[in-house]
Amino acid sequence: MSRGNRPNNGFATRQVHAGVEPDPATGAILTPIHQTTTYVQPSVDRYREKGYSYSRSHNPTVRALETKLAALEGGVDGCAFGTGMAAIHAVLVAFLNAGDHAIVSDVIFGGTLRLCRQVLARFGVEFTFADTSDPAAVEATLRGETRLVLTETPANPTLKLTDIAAVSEIARARGVLHIVDNTLLTPWYQRPFALGADLVVHSTTKYLDGHNATVGGAVVCATAEQAEAVRFVQNATGSIMSPFVAWLTLQGCKTLSVRMDAQSAAAAEIAAFLDAHPKVERVIYPGLASFPQHALASRQASGYGAMVGCEVRGGVESGKRVMDAVELWSLAENLGTVESLVTHPVTMTHANIAPEERARLGISDGLIRLSVGLETPADLIADLDQALARA
Ligand SMILES: Cc1ncc(COP(=O)(O)O)c(C=O)c1O
Repeated sequence: MSRGNRPNNGFATRQVHAGVEPDPATGAILTPIHQTTTYVQPSVDRYREKGYSYSRSHNPTVRALETKLAALEGGVDGCAFGTGMAAIHAVLVAFLNAGDHAIVSDVIFGGTLRLCRQVLARFGVEFTFADTSDPAAVEATLRGETRLVLTETPANPTLKLTDIAAVSEIARARGVLHIVDNTLLTPWYQRPFALGADLVVHSTTKYLDGHNATVGGAVVCATAEQAEAVRFVQNATGSIMSPFVAWLTLQGCKTLSVRMDAQSAAAAEIAAFLDAHPKVERVIYPGLASFPQHALASRQASGYGAMVGCEVRGGVESGKRVMDAVELWSLAENLGTVESLVTHPVTMTHANIAPEERARLGISDGLIRLSVGLETPADLIADLDQALARA
């Protein structure tokens, strides 16, 4: 077992060391980028003796990341994918067949909704998009054919929470898997396995990379059998992460807790600033006492994260003026990176959801999503202040 993989090691030790050993050939402290298609086999009878045959199936750099992510989440094994969407696709098709039913959080990343509705539903899987913030609503939606519940908590972009322990208990009692998208809080703040979830998915594009350098995804499994099912899909569909992306993500993971603590502290400051600003109508931040699920946020996670939502007075036009007037913040899709980003979900990340549905889910036309980065918080606040003056 690698020095970093011991389960009783602290999180920071695991984020630096798990999955990574000095390279046996050279002693290089970083896992090399194994940029290779194939692996020479010593003989027909000793095929895949070292575990590798072809890089669509396995790659040592990708394997290092998979091992690290499993160690951080407290899972048994992980599988890394070319994007977060590829990871979500893989976990859904690994456990769903035609005729099955799945329950998915109604507020969820727009790409996940599109995958379920416009791709997987064509293959005979039925989806119900439920308010998973209400465990009773999940229970009421379960049927004999339900195989899994997929929740995203906090959910992108309204930060609505699902009580992971409550939903896991309901699912487990009926033999249904509970899969949690843990992208927004990462294992540093939230451990779905400890709360009873069966599988965890990530867009590693966000905090795990953290540097706006890659797109990637991962599924972390609680059992070897689940990992085998997910890895089968990873190989069969050819959706594995590339070695270079895995290498960059390995480096990002090493500073995860440090970045998240600094970004989340800045987010709390920014949320308080916006909350007190006369031009701001509403602030959404789980750390604020006014957040409707503040108690749940405090109970099931050890931090509130670095995403803040707000609505500027004067509606969508005022909001757009603010987003166009910021200088230090970048108007861009993505979140969780060292660069602070501002996004307009209605025209950007959630544009594929119908206006009536967005309104029902609380994704208002004027909603601004802020992903707080690692810049000096006072500079970020000063920039918002000058932009709000133009709202
Ligand atoms: C919570 C969440 N899950 C999954 C995804 C999809 O990840 P990717 O863009 O890496 O495919 C995103 C993307 O924004 C997301 O925010």
